[in-house]
Amino acid sequence: MDKIMVEKSPPLRGNIRVSGAKNSALPILAASLLGTEDIILEDVPNLKDVDVMCEVLSLLGAKVEFLDEGIIKINSANIDNYETSYELMNKARASFLVMGPLLTRIGKTKTSLPGGCAIGTRPIDLHLKGFRAMGAEIDVDHGNIGAYANKLVGDRIYLDFPSVGATENIMMAAVMAEGETILDNAAMEPEIVDLANFLNKLGADVKGAGTSCIRIRGVKELGGATHSIIPDRIEAGTFMVAAAITKGDILVENVITSHIKPVIAKLREVGCEVYENGDRVRVIGTQNLKATDIKTLPYPGFPTDMQAQFMALMSVSEGTSVVIETVFENRFMHVDELKRMGANIKIDGRSAIIQGVDSLMSAPVRATDLRAGAALVLVGLVADGITEIRDVYHIDRGYESIEEKFASLGAKIYRV
Ligand code: EPU
Repeated sequence: MDKIMVEKSPPLRGNIRVSGAKNSALPILAASLLGTEDIILEDVPNLKDVDVMCEVLSLLGAKVEFLDEGIIKINSANIDNYETSYELMNKARASFLVMGPLLTRIGKTKTSLPGGCAIGTRPIDLHLKGFRAMGAEIDVDHGNIGAYANKLVGDRIYLDFPSVGATENIMMAAVMAEGETILDNAAMEPEIVDLANFLNKLGADVKGAGTSCIRIRGVKELGGATHSIIPDRIEAGTFMVAAAITKGDILVENVITSHIKPVIAKLREVGCEVYENGDRVRVIGTQNLKATDIKTLPYPGFPTDMQAQFMALMSVSEGTSVVIETVFENRFMHVDELKRMGANIKIDGRSAIIQGVDSLMSAPVRATDLRAGAALVLVGLVADGITEIRDVYHIDRGYESIEEKFASLGAKIYRV
């Protein structure tokens, strides 16, 4: 099993280019099952989750070719399977996103019911509510879930919570349903907009993505397209926090700055200088990091995927910070690991109270999930000694070449 070792490092400095967004690439790969002509995806990040999704597409009968770095060609003309396995679902829960496309394209889909994960129970009731409203029969037995429909018919669907995955799955099912589907209280994340843009390039009729009401008029069939994945706002945010925590100076390139407004605002609040310039953002750290409070919310609120990294920063900021996690019920697994390194954090339900300390010390720690792993890399950069991070497969699921990228900024980081 790989481990990542992080040694206390000098302030990080330099330029770093952000990769394509994992959470855009995964649904767009799933949506590639909808078109019958060649699809070329550019700026696809080189990640474990992307590999698994490509494996799922191949298993279903799509032809998947890796043309060049970050470029994948997919042809789904001959989908001949509708079932995915427990193993693949276990490796990447996003593979559940093939349900919507398969249901609308071939009328049936069967997969393993996704289990809970380190950040919560993560139910799928809202995805199913949407499929049912469009006329699908849902069948759950022995841990498998099937959805079947001779014909999907558009309907008005209200999501009780603006779930990203449910919005994506329902949107993908609706693009070839009969008539119009109106999705109310839809998620508004930039990744939803990227998916809608991609679907429209294939010939779909999706309007309103990026607002809480998305209207999808069904079409008979979808073709092919070339599409570039948007930059990863969470990877960008992680490097911005790296500049703050090491009191460094980093220019993050390939960023859509409007996607990271809460991160920019909070870094300014803690005392950093942040300069936006086109698709670049520069963060200059401060010698006196101040406490701040964050409350995670669906977009455009503060992203839950940046919560752990900010908690790392708050652990060494002066004063008391409060974090309220409202999106996932159990996304505080990193707290125990941070405490092993000397952080002073108390959890009370969905809130964490962080009393900043002057210094942290290294310890063997475990990446309990992807963003928890990123938070441990960040504290490793400022903790005395060498921090040994285990279970780094979580980090590899969502950060491309993490140690190379950090090392290029002057971090003392390596993999063993
Ligand atoms: N939820 C339900 N019912 C559902 C679906 C969701 O109750 O049918 C609840 C979940 O339990 C959770 C909340 O809604 O409490 C939010 O879940 P959502 O469906 O929005 O999340 P997701 O689609 O499973 C995506 C990202 C996550 C990111 C969340 C929130 C992908 C592949 N994953 O997950 O990314 O945290 O949206 O923004 O897009 C990560 O990258 O580290 C990551 C976990």
